[in-house]
Amino acid sequence: MNKWLKDDLEFIWHPYTQMKDTLVSPPILIKRARGIKLYDNQGNFYYDTISSWWSNVHGHNHPRIKAAIKKQLNSLDHVLFAGFTHQPAILLARELISISPGRLTKVFFSDNGSTAVEVALKMSFQYRQNTGKVKKTKFVALDYGYHGDTIGAMSVSGVGLFNKVFSPLFFPSFKAPSPYCYRCPMHKDKATCDCDCIIPLEELLKEKSGIISAIIMEPMVMAAGGMIVYPKEYLSRAAKLAKKFNVHLILDEVATGFGRTGKMFACEHVNNIEPDFLCISKGLTAGYLPLAATLTTEKIYKAFYADYGENKTFYHGHTYTANPLGCSAALASLEVFKKERTLDRIKEIIPLFRTDMEKFRYLPLVGNVRYIGLIGAVELVKDKLTKEGFSFREGIGLEVYKRALERNLILRPLGNIIYLFLPLCIKRNELQDIMNRTYTVIKSLS
Ligand SMILES: Cc1ncc(COP(=O)(O)O)c(C=O)c1O
Repeated sequence: MNKWLKDDLEFIWHPYTQMKDTLVSPPILIKRARGIKLYDNQGNFYYDTISSWWSNVHGHNHPRIKAAIKKQLNSLDHVLFAGFTHQPAILLARELISISPGRLTKVFFSDNGSTAVEVALKMSFQYRQNTGKVKKTKFVALDYGYHGDTIGAMSVSGVGLFNKVFSPLFFPSFKAPSPYCYRCPMHKDKATCDCDCIIPLEELLKEKSGIISAIIMEPMVMAAGGMIVYPKEYLSRAAKLAKKFNVHLILDEVATGFGRTGKMFACEHVNNIEPDFLCISKGLTAGYLPLAATLTTEKIYKAFYADYGENKTFYHGHTYTANPLGCSAALASLEVFKKERTLDRIKEIIPLFRTDMEKFRYLPLVGNVRYIGLIGAVELVKDKLTKEGFSFREGIGLEVYKRALERNLILRPLGNIIYLFLPLCIKRNELQDIMNRTYTVIKSLS
């Protein structure tokens, strides 16, 4: 075994990895990356088909983003963000406010998706305390939702294989059925559906809004829950219900933000949506450096704005909050969106992607095909009629992962769901090649 890999296995514990498996499948040693390709130490390439955990936006080694980080490094690497500030953060906050939907006016920086969510939960909670609504302490989340791996974020995520062991640590939250159309929680089909899965949410809010502070959801796509793409009507109605019942709407755009669904933010698929909190990370720096932000409204901000003695301060912060290098990368990424007309360009790519995704529908093990923007998924089933899935032990996902690597693709499965989460810089010929290879992999299973 390569010396680097030997040392890796001796000293490193990798995330979401059964380390015993690395005896058979050690991690792949990546030496460099360019555009949408990663290159290993032996010169093999892999298409970065899942955008390095949904973060890369404009491709690796982008000259403008690289230059911005280098330039920033010459003046300021890092500084604490309480009592001090810096230009990259100020410029970025102004820019984020200008592109964000609704009435968001303030940016609270942190450093990863889970912390962006924790901040929203804590702000919503403390807002209620600061404004005398002390009984509004609970949160509503959707089944299959995922908001991160910290205890708070897990408490408002759907409980599954990965976080079940920690469930005794979670604070209790209300769960509403999710708009998982393929496995409709209301047992409806396309012909009879009237977005009825919103009804349990409505009933819950009607009954309990006196003790509910906020509802948290991923707009348009429940990502880690299985790339569950859902109708915008659900989002629109959930947003209206939140307003009607005086419950904050926390939109978690950590995965979906920055063009993934074809719009800058996925919630923009609904006209005039007004979240109380918007959580962003991953694509914020185009996948170059860790950074996150929680955007909120003037109304919420004002409930914390008081004389020191009133103790209404938001006491929360992380060492690397608003890191200047991360802010510079994020600013450069937003510039690339403008200069390369990224959102216009992908409008031409998305229809090609859709056409190719549709082809999977006819493969024997494919029960469902779903897509939005440059995110696409197929759900593998044993039986198309009964929709019976494969058990974890059958390892179908792992099999896909291995076969995909042999064809230069990274298809990290989510259980029985195989997905693509493509960088926005993808070119037509690259898309074609990736879709052909993916088709061959899925077809080879039957
Ligand atoms: C919607 C959503 N929220 C939050 C997170 C957590 O982000 P991080 O892994 O940066 O903590 C993720 C990560 O996948 C996510 O998809």
